[in-house]
Amino acid sequence: MTPESLLDGRVQLYCGDNRDAIAAIPDNSIDAIVSDPPYALVSIVKRFGKADSAPASGNDAYARASAGFMGQAWDTGEVAFSPDFWRECVRVLKPGGHVIAFSGTRTYHRLACAIEDAGFEVRDMLSWLYGSGFPKSHDVAKGIDKRRDDRDDILAVTTFVADAADAAGISRAQIDAHIGTSDMAGWWTSRLAHRCQCPTPEQWAVLKALLGFGDDMDAEVARLNERKGEHSDTWKGARIIGEYESAPRMGFGDHRFNARDSKIREASDAAREWRGWGTALKPACEPVCLGRKPLAGTVAENVLEHGVGAINIDGCRVEQRFPANVLHDGSAEVVSLFPVSVSSGGKQTAGHDGAMRMGRTSGDGANAGGLGDAGSAARFFYTAKADDHDRAGSKHPTVKPVDLMQWLVRLVTPKGGLVLDPFAGTGTTGEAAFREGCRTILMEREPQYQDDIRRRMRLALSGPDERRRESIKAKVEDKPFDPGSLFANL
Ligand SMILES: C[S@@+](CC[C@H](N)C(=O)[O-])C[C@H]1O[C@@H](n2cnc3c(N)ncnc32)[C@H](O)[C@@H]1O
Repeated sequence: MTPESLLDGRVQLYCGDNRDAIAAIPDNSIDAIVSDPPYALVSIVKRFGKADSAPASGNDAYARASAGFMGQAWDTGEVAFSPDFWRECVRVLKPGGHVIAFSGTRTYHRLACAIEDAGFEVRDMLSWLYGSGFPKSHDVAKGIDKRRDDRDDILAVTTFVADAADAAGISRAQIDAHIGTSDMAGWWTSRLAHRCQCPTPEQWAVLKALLGFGDDMDAEVARLNERKGEHSDTWKGARIIGEYESAPRMGFGDHRFNARDSKIREASDAAREWRGWGTALKPACEPVCLGRKPLAGTVAENVLEHGVGAINIDGCRVEQRFPANVLHDGSAEVVSLFPVSVSSGGKQTAGHDGAMRMGRTSGDGANAGGLGDAGSAARFFYTAKADDHDRAGSKHPTVKPVDLMQWLVRLVTPKGGLVLDPFAGTGTTGEAAFREGCRTILMEREPQYQDDIRRRMRLALSGPDERRRESIKAKVEDKPFDPGSLFANL
């Protein structure tokens, strides 16, 4: 695989799978790896079936069945969690070279184990704190009163389908791929009452043809489908305590509502008892693994021989303070978590000149952390979450702030060093390294993000106006301009 040369050769872009691309990189040639691999937030079992399931066929359906974070088919862990892949990273790094890899709170352990199993020494875990995450918690009290009383009947259907699938030797992933659904076959073939779901009549017909079972369950499936959308039995039996005049906002308290019914009903005793209980915390942190390839000798011998092995403490100081393993987005929400609150300030950036200084402000008043202030939040590196400037016109769902990547590149890369990002996305690591005067090797498999990298590199030297213009152009090119209703009535 031959890389594309961008920014006069300072950035080399490999367009393809990093497992193929990395084979072209010589041993002991990279100074640092700074990367943001997929977090694989949908479990591999849910996505592909059991470990011994046969691979699914059919490209489009398979891609849908493989959908991960926000429906992104690339959000998988087969490379990011593979010690074999990270062993290749060990091979290409110079002795003592560092790896920095982002991850999700639910899958950090898999990434860190793979990195360690590959031969890296895990040196630390950094925490990137932010205020913008939304809790995806299931309201337990609401769930209690929404329950239907036909779970056992549905379970009988799904057990029947599971037996038929096992007899036919067809995996859950193959069923999903055949029907074009994502993660549904597991529900239709569940042997667990809390995880079963009745297929629709259309899905039932396809399942019947695929798995070759008879008509025994047809009537039952039709009956269960007719009940879909009906209120739960607890709901129907609940005492009516009022009536809404207009549709209320979704919510749950001492009373509840159903979109099809304007009656206000009393919550059951059981639901009331579980009021305020949920299933998930608000996401506010991304763990970042910091590892190091084993040193050849002592740190002193290693840095003299290979030019890597240490981290850049002075270059990453925050207002003279020692750099910490906590980073944050400067949002009022995060800053307020620190015991001493701080006054207004701007977005701190690690500047081109190497000095920590005030940079762009987010313009939304979110930067409550002031650097000149002695308050506690200010002692940690902070930069607002990725904004339009960082996105440079991309629609990638997980663009990182370039300032954040720049601080991390600076932390582990010697002056003029060579950085590798095998999961490049839109190339923020490349732009960050360029700002630091470093060279980068980027690897990205998805063509649309390869285009984003090319655009980012074209814009790396342009001023904010041109960057804004090009970003808008990229968005418009993606979606043809629609003049909207302005001329609609002419
Ligand atoms: C979390 S995103 C990185 C986003 C990046 N930090 C940014 O700021 O734009 C991970 C990227 O890795 C890419 N990727 C996943 N598996 C890959 C593989 N095996 N080879 C090359 N790229 C891969 C995905 O397409 C995705 O764009």
